[in-house]
Amino acid sequence: MTEIGTVLYHFPVLDSTNACAARLLSKIRLKPGTMITADYQTAGRGQIHRGWHSAPGLNLCLSCILYPDIRPHEQFQISMVVSLAVQELVAELCKNKPVTIKWPNDIYVGDKKIAGILIQNSIKGTEITSCIAGIGLNVNETDFPPELPNPTSLKLESTESHYRHLQLDDSIDINAVCEALTEKLNHRLTFLQSRTIQLQNDYQQVLYRQGTLSCFKLSQNDRRTGTIQSVDDLGRLQILWETGEPGAYQHGEIEYV
Ligand code: BTN
Repeated sequence: MTEIGTVLYHFPVLDSTNACAARLLSKIRLKPGTMITADYQTAGRGQIHRGWHSAPGLNLCLSCILYPDIRPHEQFQISMVVSLAVQELVAELCKNKPVTIKWPNDIYVGDKKIAGILIQNSIKGTEITSCIAGIGLNVNETDFPPELPNPTSLKLESTESHYRHLQLDDSIDINAVCEALTEKLNHRLTFLQSRTIQLQNDYQQVLYRQGTLSCFKLSQNDRRTGTIQSVDDLGRLQILWETGEPGAYQHGEIEYV
């Protein structure tokens, strides 16, 4: 079974831990569960060709290499595993606050984003040949660039009494956070394939804005109001529009407003 974190490569500076993982994978076969971390990324990558901001030395930037034994049409399971692991850790540290997964895999505390996940799968035919699961978790950053819409961090959301076991001087120990997350990831990985229904149920339980009337943008001139019903097996967001029409959308086809 894949054990995340038994091999760890740590770098003070990298362009991106996901990019580094991809470069390594193009040359050698890395041990399943290999982890790459960096104190600072000069070209952190986000979803849909966006970047990822993380101030030097303040946050967790990590990528894990997996070789999941699932078919390409099941790849949303990886997203659920990783986002549930991060959600669980953040929820433990931000007790009494709503910690949710904004579809497909952003982690929110209230209406603020605390972590982002970028999963990059390599697919050949009917096989996922490798998967790079990148996680950016804001830990000690408290002053974010103004252009970021709604960022937050563990330091801003958690209280000392909840992070005392992960404390280092005045801040939260990023290595300890990484270890705690590794444990959650290893636990959640055991759900892959065999406990899909439980993964789906757990994911729906903490789905941001589920059941709440919300506004979405489908294209420049197409904004609609509807209610999130669930996420289907293929990872599509299912919405019931206020017109009574149902819809199912892939990542990138729809945006929250
Ligand atoms: C997003 O919300 O857009 C996804 C952000 C993912 C950021 C992490 S940080 C570690 C890993 N390396 C990267 O370049 N990106 C991911």
